[in-house]
Parts: sequence; C-alpha cells; structure tokens
Amino acid sequence: MQGKFIVIEGIEGVGKSTNLEFIRRELEAEGKRVVVTREPGGTPLGEEIRNLVLSHRQDGMSSDTELLLMFAARAEHLAKVIVPALAAGRWVLSDRFTDATYAYQGGGRGIPRQRIAEMEAWVQGRLRPDLTLLLDVPVAIGLQRAGQRSAPDRFEAEHTAFFERVRRTYLDLAHLHPQRYRVIDASQPLEDVQQSIKEVLTVFLASV
Ligand code: TMP
Repeated sequence: MQGKFIVIEGIEGVGKSTNLEFIRRELEAEGKRVVVTREPGGTPLGEEIRNLVLSHRQDGMSSDTELLLMFAARAEHLAKVIVPALAAGRWVLSDRFTDATYAYQGGGRGIPRQRIAEMEAWVQGRLRPDLTLLLDVPVAIGLQRAGQRSAPDRFEAEHTAFFERVRRTYLDLAHLHPQRYRVIDASQPLEDVQQSIKEVLTVFLASV
C-alpha cells in the first residue's frame, strides 16, 4: 500500500524541528514506518545544494537561480527518497516542500506564481502532500525565536517585510488548498501546539 506524505511548513522560528520529532513519535506509535526528511536537502546532492542556497555570497544569487536550485534539489529528493519511500508503504514526513518555494521565491522574492506552478507540474507530476501542517506565528515572534539560534543564514538575514510576504503567502495557500492544509497557531505554549497537532493527526489517521 502507498504511504502518506506529510509536510510541515512555516516561517523561521515557528518550532518546526521540535514538532517534527513529536509528529514522528505520534505516527510511529500508530505503527507507521516513517521517513523524516527535509528541503532543501534530504539527499547527499540535495544537502550540497542546501549549502549553496543558504550560505552568504559576495556576488549574491539571482532569484531565478535560487528557484532552479530549489527544484533541482527537489527533483533529486523525489527520485531518491520520497517516491521510493511512498511506493514501499512508508510515511514521508518532510520539513518543508514546494509550498516553501511559493512562499519564499514567490511571495518573498516576487517570482510569479504561474512560473512556480509550471516547475511544480514538471518536477512532481501529480504528486502533492496528503497533509500540510502550517505552523503559524506573527513574524516578530518567529524572528525573535530564530534570532536566539546560530548566525543567520542567507534567508534568515532578510528583512521583516520579506517574512511578512512569506507568511501571507502561506496563509493564502492554506485558503487555496483547505482539503490538505491545517493551520496551527504556533504562538501558543508548546503543549497546546502539540495538542492541536495531535488532534489534526487523529482526524487524518482516521481518514486514510
Ligand atoms: P530551514 O529548513 O532551516 O527552515 O531552512 C531552509 C531555508 O530555505 C528557509 O529559510 C526557507 C528556504 N526555502 C526556500 O526559500 N525555498 C524552498 O523551496 C525551500 C524548501 C526552502
């Protein structure tokens, strides 16, 4: 039987890593075999691309180059990890996927949505996540939390207005795809966030 594809999205500092581990434990407790992965990355080549797009460069990077690198990493990720795992009946839990491209390269950098949709159709065919959990917090809170971590990468160094556009695009996507999106208020205390996630997973597990 084909596995399910769950993606977690949100701006920086929403608590994706902590909650990803929580979701993995919940799914494994239900007897699912889970592959945890991330974008950009998830394969050796994809992790090299991740280093390229996240590191600061004196010569900068054009938005189109950034877009193409995200999809290059994704093509590798789909071919080597996601598609084989789903076909083997595993559940794939990914820290970000294509909606991050709509949010960051589309909303953030201003690349037209249609161009991203064309690449999505080309690289993924009909494959889309079965469930997307958007951890949502106001930008000021996310950036404050993210700022307490290590030195900012090329995205984390962006201005507040960039992240406001990213957040707005995620919320627009949630409206556009209500059947697969669930928005979690991640500004709540962690126990409440995890309670909300648990409720979403319970309903999802009962529906598949
Ligand atoms: P993170 O996984 O630690 O959140 O860092 C990944 C960064 O890459 C994050 O700032 C969002 C960005 N990103 C894009 O801009 N486009 C994409 O398609 C993906 C997957 C990530």
